Amino acid sequence: MRILIAIPVLLLSLFFFAPALPEAPAGFDNKSNGLVDDATHAADQVKFDEIEQVSDGLGPLYNAQSCRECHQNPTSGGSSQVSELRVGHRGPGGKFQNPEIPIARGTEIIKGRSLVNDRAICPNAAFPSTEIQERVPDSENIRTFRVSLNLLGDGFVEAVPDQTFVDLAKDQCQKNHNKICGQVLYVPILEAPPLTGVGRFGWKDQHASLLSFSADAYLNEMGITNRLQTDEVTNLCNTVNEPNDTTGPDGLADIDHFARYIRATETPARDSTLAQTPKARLGADLFVKVGCDICHVQTLTTAPAGTTLNGGTFTIPPALGDKQFHPYGDFLLHNVGTGDGIVAAMLEHYGKNMYQTNWRNLSIPNYNNAANKIRTAPLWGVRLHSRLMHDGDSVTLFDAILRHRGEAAQVTKKFKKLNPAKKEALLEFLRSL
Ligand code: HEC
Ligand code: HEC
Repeated sequence: MRILIAIPVLLLSLFFFAPALPEAPAGFDNKSNGLVDDATHAADQVKFDEIEQVSDGLGPLYNAQSCRECHQNPTSGGSSQVSELRVGHRGPGGKFQNPEIPIARGTEIIKGRSLVNDRAICPNAAFPSTEIQERVPDSENIRTFRVSLNLLGDGFVEAVPDQTFVDLAKDQCQKNHNKICGQVLYVPILEAPPLTGVGRFGWKDQHASLLSFSADAYLNEMGITNRLQTDEVTNLCNTVNEPNDTTGPDGLADIDHFARYIRATETPARDSTLAQTPKARLGADLFVKVGCDICHVQTLTTAPAGTTLNGGTFTIPPALGDKQFHPYGDFLLHNVGTGDGIVAAMLEHYGKNMYQTNWRNLSIPNYNNAANKIRTAPLWGVRLHSRLMHDGDSVTLFDAILRHRGEAAQVTKKFKKLNPAKKEALLEFLRSL
């Protein structure tokens, strides 16, 4: 009898006293999380902050001159109010189709992307009559804005094993009787064809790798071609040879510096003053009680140091391995009734290699199925966002919560039933994140 009791007690105590994994460092002080030394991190930040010019390959079509222009609040790598424009229309069978945007007085049509660039380098002194500004034709009647995302701490997100997200989706679905079922999307890893990984970056989970995302952003936000995104969106008034981004004396191109910069950032720190108040603590309990944490998952853990990622092209260093962090997100796609109907554009995100590679596990039906889904917005650092939700259409936390329908309908209902003091406590908790 005594032994029978002793065994479960021993097992229980092992469970409770197993040392928790160390916390990922948090802060907005521009220090490295340990992936590189602070001087290297500062040098990588210079690249991230750098203003590109036409002579560097900027454009011909672009949105901004530097990564920092959109990722800056409260420091380089954060988010911002800047949003970008995505449009399209429905084709045969109601399927989403990318837009056709005429430029140069209709002599060229930009296809294969849902993004519409807000700026262009010409007409200019060298090309006074070349008119390439993109404008949306009336026929493109599916339209949305997408707000800039936070990048701080994303190195930890990248280091979470694919299997964690697969298990999370399955578990969530089972526990919630098929009412809340996050979707996993396998996406190309541009630096490791034909391999794919579980998408976790972007509002549509369109990338798994920070290097892939950096290459995508350099081309599509700034017009700078690079070794993973080799083709300009248009060659009109283009004067700099491809790829615009070349390898420096250290063997690294700009996209390598961007990826390393993001990987070395600390996670967004909480407002520690607010977090300690009884009100915010009550709010934290209510957040779990009404079920917000089903999707806004508090804690994730990274794979052990030495694990290889992205098809063996990146090995998790000790600074990123075996850490716990608190993103308040599951990085899965959900339909919470806010979807814009836009399917992630293949050519835009993955380049023409998309069609020349037989990507493993890639499923176009899964992409189409996500037309109305959005990645759960990670809530770390949400107190620093002035505009909320993918379209930036909600300007208060309360409004953002009330917009949750679809898979989140039951949870929203429970939130609405809270008395005013409890609602306020939950909001106070969000203001501490
Ligand atoms: C014009 C504004 C703008 C510029 C310039 C810009 N970004 Fe972004 N960034 C965004 C927006 C908007 C998103 C969300 C896009 C989406 O999913 O549709 C985003 C998302 C990202 C993400 C995904 C983050 C996550 O956690 O999901 C990464 C990584 C990123 N950008 C890196 C970069 C890098 C590197 C540069 C410079 C080469 C850059 N961005 C330049 C606006 C910008
Ligand atoms: C079924 C999953 C799910 C549940 C449950 C859920 N959310 Fe969300 N949440 C999302 C998704 C998906 C988005 C992004 C939607 C969009 O941008 O259109 C989001 C966005 C948000 C945002 C906006 C963040 C930003 O940076 O723009 C806030 C705030 C938020 N949720 C809070 C909550 C709270 C509080 C609860 C509980 C009352 C909750 N959510 C329950 C999935 C969920």
